[in-house]
Amino acid sequence: MTAGYRERFTAAIGPWVNNNHPLPTGLPADVTAFLQQSNKLPSWVDVSQLRRAADFNRRKDTYLFMLYGLGSGIMSTVIPREARSVYWSKGGADMKDRAAKTFTFGYDLSQLNAFEPNGQFIVTANKTRMVHAAVRHLLPQLPQWKSGATETIPISNGDILVTFHSLGTFVHSKLKEWKIPMSTADENAFLHSWQVAISLLGVKDEYIPKTWADAHAQSAQVLSPILLPTTEGKALAEVLLGLVSQVDLGVTRGFLNEFTRYVLGDTVANWLGLPRDLASAAIIKVGWPAYILFREGLLPLMPANFYLFDQFIRAVAMAFLNGGPSTQTTPIQIPDINRPA
Ligand code: HEM
Repeated sequence: MTAGYRERFTAAIGPWVNNNHPLPTGLPADVTAFLQQSNKLPSWVDVSQLRRAADFNRRKDTYLFMLYGLGSGIMSTVIPREARSVYWSKGGADMKDRAAKTFTFGYDLSQLNAFEPNGQFIVTANKTRMVHAAVRHLLPQLPQWKSGATETIPISNGDILVTFHSLGTFVHSKLKEWKIPMSTADENAFLHSWQVAISLLGVKDEYIPKTWADAHAQSAQVLSPILLPTTEGKALAEVLLGLVSQVDLGVTRGFLNEFTRYVLGDTVANWLGLPRDLASAAIIKVGWPAYILFREGLLPLMPANFYLFDQFIRAVAMAFLNGGPSTQTTPIQIPDINRPA
């Protein structure tokens, strides 16, 4: 891609933000033709379920931040194909920016109007698709990526399903495990929003799980068996955890390591070489379930350490969202190079 072309492309997609904005002009004809068919909701969408999902995301945002950030985010570093492609792509060298952009996806998805004309999610998903397409073009040119690759072109439909399970399916299983109150309608709506999201990312209908039972079965088949540490993944995990521990809200790195271990289990934590902090582990084991009960109105007295967990959640949000959920989202740009040396 020449410099002039790249600048024209970036300028063309910049103002294209809301779902009801016209498609950008000045793009190559084949890109415009592609967007004309991709920039819309799938025919099977159920708008009332999407509205419920957005409301659910709002009601449960505390847990979702923690689970997407420290659960899915760190899990992505032990999904070898994902870790390697993120590490060797442009954004891998600036994980703060990249984490914020990836959170933009979740943030746009959880807005009440995400799929409405004045919402942004359909455009965000299409821009993400363009980023993935650029990565498919760029990474195979890089010797460092090619040398360890188990595929010739990255980010297949299968890979996207794996990532969905590390996000939606994983979060669903943890919400159940933590006994977060949810109605069946909420659970179904949460699944539906993910079904629409991965459809907008290009996953074909026949691969998209129809129920949570299907999703968990597919996850056991395609995600659990492939988790493994890589050099690249370990480096990314260190950067991501470093971002949270840099936020100075009194949360120690030991506490962060132990919370990550609590969420992802010993195998993953040991792969990533997270040192033990048994005092923090003890606080989390007792304190986090009590925090949940109190938040959900199921415990009359505020538990000890309530503020510690509250600060911790703020630190995670600040690290991954460029200052917290109320700030402007970070615009997604199409990468033009691989990881700079
Ligand atoms: C970029 C979301 C699956 C690799 C992005 C971006 C988003 C995103 C929002 C744009 C952020 C940015 O510009 O950095 C998702 C979601 C997925 C998914 C929601 C599935 C549900 C995957 C998979 C892989 C992957 C399966 C690899 C195996 C990448 C890479 C970038 C990217 C390498 C570009 C990083 C850069 O250089 O800036 N993704 N993604 N993604 N994604 Fe994905």
